[in-house]
Amino acid sequence: MSTHIGAKPGEIAERVLMPGDPLRAKWIAETYLEDATSYSTVRGMLGFTGRWNGVAVSVQGSGMGMPSASIYAHELINEYGVKTLIRVGSCGALTEDLQLRDVVAAIGSATDSNMNRMRFDGLIDYAPVADFGLLRTSVEVAERRGITMRVGPILAADAFYTDRPDLYDTLADYGVLAVEMESAALYTIAARFRARALTVLTVSDHIKTGAKTTAQEREQTFSQMVEIALDTIVA
Ligand code: HPA
Repeated sequence: MSTHIGAKPGEIAERVLMPGDPLRAKWIAETYLEDATSYSTVRGMLGFTGRWNGVAVSVQGSGMGMPSASIYAHELINEYGVKTLIRVGSCGALTEDLQLRDVVAAIGSATDSNMNRMRFDGLIDYAPVADFGLLRTSVEVAERRGITMRVGPILAADAFYTDRPDLYDTLADYGVLAVEMESAALYTIAARFRARALTVLTVSDHIKTGAKTTAQEREQTFSQMVEIALDTIVA
């Protein structure tokens, strides 16, 4: 096992879906994957491997925030040979033209996290971006499935609760669609270790209007997003 994942060598597929919530990982495995088995329960951060359309796929909870997601992305790639990671999660919309339940693919990720500033000694504003091939495939998959998906930049924030909502307005002025808490770390670590990564999200709440989805709505849109991610990761 690695420091935080209790899988034996070979138990994790080269393709991994990463929801923040470990119980979502369990739900995805049980709902979608054939012959899903659990490979890790360390710290309750559940991981499963099964098959989607005959191709081996794993689902690993990442936890919330970039420090937690970084640990899992790093170990999946470096200790288990994972090549492709797609984060599936929720986000808060920053722009008026996004609606609750919309699906968003993050082409790139601005961040207020200090992790990359430390990496580049505060000298470079590194731009964490999605893998172009994965992003293109996800757009094709969404079109084929008849699901409207917005593609654009997002913010990966360290804090869920902010004292500076004015910065969200400024980011929206620059075309940033939504806020979540993991994508910049995932994109950076994937780039560093030559893996491919993408983030697909559903809008669970609207920062401008305060609107929130119901649990039932979240489940339904979560399904559409997971289906896009699964078709994309095995393509
Ligand atoms: N902020 C950060 N992450 C989120 C949010 C939010 O408002 N909604 C869903 N994920």
